[in-house]
Amino acid sequence: MLVIDHKEELKATIQGHRTKNRSIGFVPTMGALHEGHLSLVRKALSLNDVVVVSIFINPTQFDNQEDLKKYPQNLQQDIALLQSVSKNILLFTPSKEGIYDGTVVSGSYNFNGLEKVMEGTYRTGHFNGVATIVELLLNAVAPDNAFFGEKDFQQLQIIKKLVETKKLPYRIIGCPIARETNGLARSSRNERLSTPTRKKAGFIYETLTTAKTKFGTESALDIKDWVKNVFEKSPYFKLEYFEIADTDTLTPILKKQRNKTYRAFIAVYAENVRLIDNIALN
Ligand code: PAF
Repeated sequence: MLVIDHKEELKATIQGHRTKNRSIGFVPTMGALHEGHLSLVRKALSLNDVVVVSIFINPTQFDNQEDLKKYPQNLQQDIALLQSVSKNILLFTPSKEGIYDGTVVSGSYNFNGLEKVMEGTYRTGHFNGVATIVELLLNAVAPDNAFFGEKDFQQLQIIKKLVETKKLPYRIIGCPIARETNGLARSSRNERLSTPTRKKAGFIYETLTTAKTKFGTESALDIKDWVKNVFEKSPYFKLEYFEIADTDTLTPILKKQRNKTYRAFIAVYAENVRLIDNIALN
């Protein structure tokens, strides 16, 4: 598998594939790859001739420097995993200065309020950092299709909005959440949990699936109260937020309306590790 560090070399390699009429898929990641990432890569391979995977821990999207320092890294294992999937993968591992063209700072974006709720409330500047790096990476790779997991559903909606407002000619494809056997959404952060807590963390998904069942008959407000109560009783997990929000606008609601679709979103701390998840409700 070709591993490329420099943007110019990446562009030249992709140009070579383009002259042979090969389509390009793109899966951006921050490394510490797991089955969730590999499911995106497989989806990308099913729709494209060549798939570029990037590994870059983007400093500008971390509002918490401790979280950035502790972010798991294992490049050799990541390379081995990608090699086991296909030979049609190209790995891009840029440096900070290389991908940011020198100055490592975020741009400032307006996504019609999508960036202000939930993750946007609790992680100041996070989506400016995400949008900045995703725009830089998309323009470096110039893929036909780029693949993002629904685990970060708010991020996915924001990236779709980014591509729409900047008129970028790339198709953004959302992919279903990959889960561990107990239902815990797969995340590189799960590695930081102790084994007993990781096992117990299936509780987060259980709560979401019960909320989904309740959504058929109970009000959004009652469900929010119920989730709050359930977490208050838990000695292992601390709830940061639980919201029921409109799927398109991500505006949290207390009252349902007909002909709209909703999702439930949750952020939880377990052993100081922040975990997020979400589920379609209707
Ligand atoms: O979802 C992620 O891993 C990151 O936010 C992304 C999209 C790779 C940007 O750094």
